[in-house]
Amino acid sequence: RTTAVILAGGTGQRVGLSIPKQLLKIAGKAVIEHTLATFEKADSIDDIIVLMAPGYVADIEKIVAKAGFTKVKKIIEGGSTRNETTERAIQALGEGLAEGEDRNVLFHDAVRPLLSERVIDDCVTALERYQAVDVAIPSADTIIVTRTHGEDGEFITEIPDRSRLRRGQTPQAFKLSTIRRAYEVAAGDPNFQATDDCSVVLKYLPDVPIHVVAGDEYNMKVTQPVDVFIADKLFQLASTAAPEQNGAEAYRELLSGKTVVVFGG
Ligand code: CTP
Repeated sequence: RTTAVILAGGTGQRVGLSIPKQLLKIAGKAVIEHTLATFEKADSIDDIIVLMAPGYVADIEKIVAKAGFTKVKKIIEGGSTRNETTERAIQALGEGLAEGEDRNVLFHDAVRPLLSERVIDDCVTALERYQAVDVAIPSADTIIVTRTHGEDGEFITEIPDRSRLRRGQTPQAFKLSTIRRAYEVAAGDPNFQATDDCSVVLKYLPDVPIHVVAGDEYNMKVTQPVDVFIADKLFQLASTAAPEQNGAEAYRELLSGKTVVVFGG
């Protein structure tokens, strides 16, 4: 079985709205509704659990009921950091598991509403061979490493070879037993610190290879205010091209090249 875990426990401080950014409406639907619709539609996904920012669980229940998402089996509160939210998901998933039973889990940021089904399928396929899978794209920008020297500001310490650098996206996919073991080891480290789940496996289960699947440029994370405009524009372009479809569906067609969008036409 494959479960999608939608991480929606954050409040979106950087976008800075009065509601968590995953509830913001883009192209007529909440960001998280677009995300859920993609997983609901994907044949390789059996069920979905959502971890929502405390105080907003009822909003998700309403969205799920209205849209009729039948794969959503659990909606619970997230933790105070992204990794705590993941840990809660691992715990919730373990509760339904028989002794010795394993399953696939895909952790996805609720705020990446433009994920394509191709990426989901590639992750699930990769889990047939690997216990841990990341999704990444090449970096167009040169990435520099800096150090801050007091009031003088930042200085470059390193410029890694760009051809080997990737920008990590989500989903991040694992065998449940593997990601659980990684977090168990991490729990013994008083200095534990991470912002994603692959880094927990990399650090605490160094013998487990983490396979990388190609992500896509459109799988952006709504992070800064400008991203709201970009995501909105992408959905709008797609639904203008095919008004009868919902944003996410139309968008996928656009990506697959079936729809031609005429700019300014
Ligand atoms: N997330 C989560 N639980 C947290 C923090 C974040 O599930 N305690 C989720 C967010 O809801 C989001 C994803 O992790 O879907 C990526 O995180 P990020 O973009 O940093 O979201 P926020 O924490 O909401 O944003 P900010 O850092 O600007 O407050």
